Amino acid sequence: MVVQHSLFRTKPVEELIAASEGSKALKRVLKPYELVLLGVGAVIGTGIFVLSGVGAGYAGPALPVSFIIAGLVCVLAAFCYAEFAAMVPVTGSAYTYCYASLGEIWAWTIGWDLILEYAVAVSAVAIGWSGYVANLLTAVGITLPAYLINPPGIDGGIVNLPAVIIILLMTALLITGMKESARVTAIIVAIKVAILLLFVYLCLGHFDLANWNNFMPNGWEGVFGGAAVIFFAFVGFDTVVIAAEETENPKRTLPRALIATLIICMILYVVVAAMLTGIIPFASLTGQSAPIAFALNQIGIPWGAALVSVGAICGMTTVLLMNIYGQSRIFFAMSRDRLLPSALSDIHPVFQTPVKVTLLVGIVTAVLAGFSPLRLVAELVNIGALFAFMLVAVGVLILRYKSPEIERPFKVPLFPLIPILCIAATIFLMANLQPATHIQFVIWVAIGFIVYFIWNYRRTCPPVLATEPRTVAGDPEVPG
Ligand code: ALA
Repeated sequence: MVVQHSLFRTKPVEELIAASEGSKALKRVLKPYELVLLGVGAVIGTGIFVLSGVGAGYAGPALPVSFIIAGLVCVLAAFCYAEFAAMVPVTGSAYTYCYASLGEIWAWTIGWDLILEYAVAVSAVAIGWSGYVANLLTAVGITLPAYLINPPGIDGGIVNLPAVIIILLMTALLITGMKESARVTAIIVAIKVAILLLFVYLCLGHFDLANWNNFMPNGWEGVFGGAAVIFFAFVGFDTVVIAAEETENPKRTLPRALIATLIICMILYVVVAAMLTGIIPFASLTGQSAPIAFALNQIGIPWGAALVSVGAICGMTTVLLMNIYGQSRIFFAMSRDRLLPSALSDIHPVFQTPVKVTLLVGIVTAVLAGFSPLRLVAELVNIGALFAFMLVAVGVLILRYKSPEIERPFKVPLFPLIPILCIAATIFLMANLQPATHIQFVIWVAIGFIVYFIWNYRRTCPPVLATEPRTVAGDPEVPG
């Protein structure tokens, strides 16, 4: 008796598309411009408002070059995502693309890996958000007690209440509907982009080329190290493709929205970084948790600094919203494929959103943010995202050779150069992260494999006789 398992079973593109049109279909409500706003909402936040000081510590005044490098890696990845997104306009992003190209075990691994990019990022960003809000409240005379802004074990803390509240509010908004979420996002994105533009304007008269004299104090090594950290600022642009099933005319819209989102963010980042390092000596930026506000204070514009804090809070708010969205839709896709309990992908009859899975993500991330001593774990989020980008590029290569006949409304230009460059560039940036991050990542992936083998492998791939060919499309429903 020969036993077969289907670890590397891929899911045909037609089957993925059929699943997205069945009883668990999401509602198509988003217009192309809303998708770009959601993309910018998902991207601009902690990276520029908090981490640019860390980036300056590595790169010095060459910080804008680090932003360009990190952005270019994302552009390479965006082309690969765009090919998949137009070919398989189904939610789940990298998870779904890996299921179509590399097989179930890789799909699971990416689904697990993306928890780093989304859920861990949500908790960490919410803690940063809470810190900013507490500071702003203190500035207007309202001091929150330490036990309500710290987790147990830190400074007499009981719960980080603002972090819990913001996550639950964003979760409630997402449950209410995607259209409503897009409207709120549009307003907040307008505020944060306006504040960044105002920052650039305020800096114009203070820019001093002398601050750029020692342009690369740590050489190219510093610039690449800066790029690996500041990559965090671009994380989230792939949320655009997660909205594939909620977008009108996705085959056409997704590739354009993806590239537009990246171009807008990259231009803003490079200009802001150039101003930041041009108005004050870079050395004073390192170690600052609010470098942009700090720089404005240094040049004597305290009201601008206060406004920047508002911009940072706005930025982090939409990052939170979109990351909870991203995580819930990835779990939704995994549940629809029965890699997670099937009930999680039920669509609520009134709200037309996957309420159960959104609530699950909201509650788990709120508990993590409220009660754990997690700090901004940007490098861990970065390695999670870079690994996903790399596998998506591998998937594009494999599927082009394996299934050249599939209709591809958008094709990666200069194939195979761009996917190969994307793989090389993501490996390079991963290598530039701290050794501790590599170890944490390997442990996380190993836990993922163990969970898969204990829980899912037995559930989704029961041993079958070699003489009884296993059908996939017609498999009876496995109860969740
Ligand atoms: N790119 C997002 C941010 O900077 C994660 O907050």
